[in-house]
Amino acid sequence: MTRKERVAVIDCDGRGAALVRAYAKSHNVESIIAIPGNDLMKICTDKSVRTFPTVNTTSITDIVKICKLNSVSFVDVAQDDAVAKGLVDILRKKVATLCVLGPTKAAGEIEWSKAYARQLGTKHSLPQPKYQICNSEEQGIAYMRSLPKDTPVFVKASGLAKGKGSIPAETFKEAVNAIKSMASFGNAGKTFLIEHWLRNEDSSNAEEFSSFAITDGITVKILGNAQDHKRAYNNDQGPNTGGMGCSTPPLVINDHIASKTEDIFNTIVKGLYTEGRQYTGILYLGGILQYQQNKLVPNIVEWNARWGDPEAQVIVPGIKNDILELGYSVVTHTIKDHAIQSDGKARVVVAGVSKGYPADYSAVIGKQIYGLDNVMNMEGIEVYGAGVSVQDGKHYATGGRLFYIVGEGRNVLEARLKAYAAIGHVSIEGDNLHYRDDIGWRDVARLRRSQ
Ligand code: GLY
Repeated sequence: MTRKERVAVIDCDGRGAALVRAYAKSHNVESIIAIPGNDLMKICTDKSVRTFPTVNTTSITDIVKICKLNSVSFVDVAQDDAVAKGLVDILRKKVATLCVLGPTKAAGEIEWSKAYARQLGTKHSLPQPKYQICNSEEQGIAYMRSLPKDTPVFVKASGLAKGKGSIPAETFKEAVNAIKSMASFGNAGKTFLIEHWLRNEDSSNAEEFSSFAITDGITVKILGNAQDHKRAYNNDQGPNTGGMGCSTPPLVINDHIASKTEDIFNTIVKGLYTEGRQYTGILYLGGILQYQQNKLVPNIVEWNARWGDPEAQVIVPGIKNDILELGYSVVTHTIKDHAIQSDGKARVVVAGVSKGYPADYSAVIGKQIYGLDNVMNMEGIEVYGAGVSVQDGKHYATGGRLFYIVGEGRNVLEARLKAYAAIGHVSIEGDNLHYRDDIGWRDVARLRRSQ
């Protein structure tokens, strides 16, 4: 017999949109609430989706009230600020009947304090770059002076900084500027880290990947991997963004890397457990692959207490398990009984962003987006919204990252072809749409070399 559950997803972006669509596929879900959600979440599902655009992900009192008033039975806390604010803890305490998926504030510290995450990594001898935790500009600059001149580093705000708190610095001068910029992140930048840039022996940039697991704090099940493109422009140039697109599965992840990655997840989850911070929910390892004795091995760039955005948009649609059941299995500690099943397809997602993003894109706000409707009906394509409003059936830009177009196929070439054919039908009034043309380039090159 099917249950009739009301599910709430706490998020407003493309990641939340992918989750809403996946919950809508569950036979046990009657309707969905997205807080705050976005206008495009209401389309492409036959279940009712209600959004709360004026409530933000950290309005704890409002979220508790909405869950009670709407008889919500299951909440997926999918957004980092909400985790850091303790939404999971508070929902569990205030609404006894509610099943909440997500880490407690204490377990989520692995994301909201990069200093804590590194210290935990050191305690458990996990592979990660050399780092220094700093509490003042003077301390940071003194540390840079102690290194060989122009040592390449990343300067990172320890707290949450909307994906913008990690600044690459190739020279001493750049590092000093990055250290000085930490103050602009307010509390998040009061403590910051200087991390040595992980490069290959030939100084080439090591390859990054994102890996996702679901855990009840004891058992870890890997959900999938992807490769994200964070820079704004082609050839990985320009400023860092929240993510311009990604592809799954990354062909670079062989059995050896997959097994080492799983070991890292198991160690950190056990480490959190032994500290009394049992981690429940989705855990995201931002990793980097470095050659060591001719073998690629994973290192930890960062931990996130949630799905990645846009990684969720390519991995979640490929999970064949009922995601509501997976969520319940975390809370009932039966995740060990679930085998994760994937549909085996390759997916490529391209983010459509306002021209100017991630810097000033204010001139694009309110402009009309053309062509999204046509794309939504294309075979092998999913469209997820973020900064888009719908008025009288027309679409308008309301943010930086606007929408995501996902193409699926038997391999990355096919998936990418579909995604780019689709996004070619979309434009923004005044030629204001920007997207990268080269998402998935590493695997496209790898696949072509192997053919
Ligand atoms: N794709 C990067 C992130 O979600 O943080």
